Amino acid sequence: MRSQFKCTVNGNALELQAYPMERLLDVLREQLRLTGTKEGCGEGECGACTVMIDGQIVNSCLVPVAQVEGCDIKTIEGIAVSESQLHAVQQAFIDCGGAQCGICTPGMVIAAVNLLEKTPNPTEPEIRNGLAGNLCRCTGYMKIFESVVRACQR
Ligand code: FES
Ligand code: FES
Repeated sequence: MRSQFKCTVNGNALELQAYPMERLLDVLREQLRLTGTKEGCGEGECGACTVMIDGQIVNSCLVPVAQVEGCDIKTIEGIAVSESQLHAVQQAFIDCGGAQCGICTPGMVIAAVNLLEKTPNPTEPEIRNGLAGNLCRCTGYMKIFESVVRACQR
């Protein structure tokens, strides 16, 4: 039976109607049409589905929607500073060529934004560690790493 869940998504208070064990990933993409969050492996291995819940990065493919009752969720759609200004991490990915197919990019950006929120001036090992849960099959990791370094310099 479907139940009602209250949460905040990208600053908007919402009431979701969903089966408790529905994946947060599916609710975001199919019910809320927030399709920036991508599905890669669906098994918690690739990080393509990364979102923030209460300031922590999580793989939304592993989260039953019942667990987000009362939580504050942020997806890639809520990362930009405004409609006309991207977040420094998003802009750096564009400037440094950190995205190719883009499947991994929303998760990479969320992980990098979370890292910089917690550690404004990360060391190189801290950047690598912050992105360790996110896999990319396209760019290799140097351009992504350079993107995060560039974002730190803004
Ligand atoms: S789709 Fe969730 S970790 Fe790969
Ligand atoms: S840009 Fe394609 S998986 Fe990373």
